[in-house]
Amino acid sequence: MSDSNTESRGSWNTKFGFILAAAGSAVGLGNIWGFPTQVADNGGAAFILIYLLCCLIVGFPLMIAEFTIGRNTQKNPVGAFKKLSNNNIYAALIGFWGVLCGLMILSFYLVISGWTLSFALEEIVSYLGFNELANTLADLGNGYKNAIFTVLFGLLTIVIITGGVSKGIERATKTLMPILLGILLILIIYIFTLEGSGEGLRMYVTPDFSTITPDLLLSALGQAFFSLSLGMGALITYGSYLKKNQNVVESAAYVTVADVGIAFVAGLLVIPAMFVAQASGIQIFNPETGALFSSVTLVFDVLPGLFGNIGGFLGTLVGFTFFILLGLAALTSSISLLEVPVSYVIDEHNIKRKKAAWIVGGIVSVIAVIVSFNLNLIDVFVFIFNEIGLPLGGLMICIFLAYFWKTENAVLEMKNGFENIEETSFPKIWTIFVKFICPVLIFIVLFTTLYNYIF
Ligand code: PFF
Repeated sequence: MSDSNTESRGSWNTKFGFILAAAGSAVGLGNIWGFPTQVADNGGAAFILIYLLCCLIVGFPLMIAEFTIGRNTQKNPVGAFKKLSNNNIYAALIGFWGVLCGLMILSFYLVISGWTLSFALEEIVSYLGFNELANTLADLGNGYKNAIFTVLFGLLTIVIITGGVSKGIERATKTLMPILLGILLILIIYIFTLEGSGEGLRMYVTPDFSTITPDLLLSALGQAFFSLSLGMGALITYGSYLKKNQNVVESAAYVTVADVGIAFVAGLLVIPAMFVAQASGIQIFNPETGALFSSVTLVFDVLPGLFGNIGGFLGTLVGFTFFILLGLAALTSSISLLEVPVSYVIDEHNIKRKKAAWIVGGIVSVIAVIVSFNLNLIDVFVFIFNEIGLPLGGLMICIFLAYFWKTENAVLEMKNGFENIEETSFPKIWTIFVKFICPVLIFIVLFTTLYNYIF
């Protein structure tokens, strides 16, 4: 691809900047909220093991596939599949599906991200004694309040995107990721000084293999797709800004390890914190069913209760910091969700980045405001665009790459930055995964999800 294209579309400034941006996309609400609550819900460490396998067997090969398609075509997902298929409309549909999933996932992601802001503010406001305002800020059902914080979060995301690839996305993630990691570690150290954390830790690291059921496999693979930002072309888009000297296989390995690692570390915070909350008298299990409360209740009810019980300035500080942590993680992911449709509009409709970001960001914000007032839409969108949408996208990407573009061409692309790739066994192993293992596993999971839904 010509340098002028790289110049006009933008590219990552440094190798590390790209890895951090892709890790920023991957590390989000899915890690700090989704992963720990899924672990607690699904038999502790047994879930972690299955999740690790899903990331390794399906996630990692697919991430390499997405980076490679992106770097080869230097285009958004729609343009990428068009280019590799000589403008085949069916192939372009894979990209369109990704763009749609990006828009729709972002529309509920912004609402939840908005909650992280309103809860961070609530911690301060209630410390200052403005109880009525604090109650409003903590009221998940208040549509107007939801809409305000949703739009605020949308604006933050749009502003970063308008800055471009290296000056906007790369610079923002380079600043935000270290802060995120620092906050996470400080909070873990603090939580481990509190009573009940040991019990949480035990539950986190003790596997209960009796919980391994087909449903658990579904949850683990779904979580892996969402957490690694796979299946909708976010990583095709990020890969499209890569220079030819970067090793995509190595980069994918770093991003996968960073994502899984931060999810695991986040579990060391959230699960012990839940048990600390229990030790301080807050219920975490539903008394009727005996099951753990839903993830929304745990994060936006149980944990604020714990911060309240810690009390005083310290409780406020811990609570505020926790919600800022969630917000930062969400921001580096929402950027990548918005970048997919924005890059499509820039490439395919020749619209300048700033204008594209405001138009697409505006459309997503309108949908997100509708979701703010109708929270039941979140479950619907999660089911269609996340639980079905991402694995479906991943399946189509795998099949397209393996049987239409061909793995040999992909390996040739990977050679840029990994010169001796053909002297290693990597191409053979990766080909088996992309051609057979990944599509079969994803198909089984998709089929079972739909079967369970229908029957
Ligand atoms: N990976 C993000 C998280 O774990 O919260 C969510 C996400 C971002 C999903 C980007 C998909 C995506 F393309």
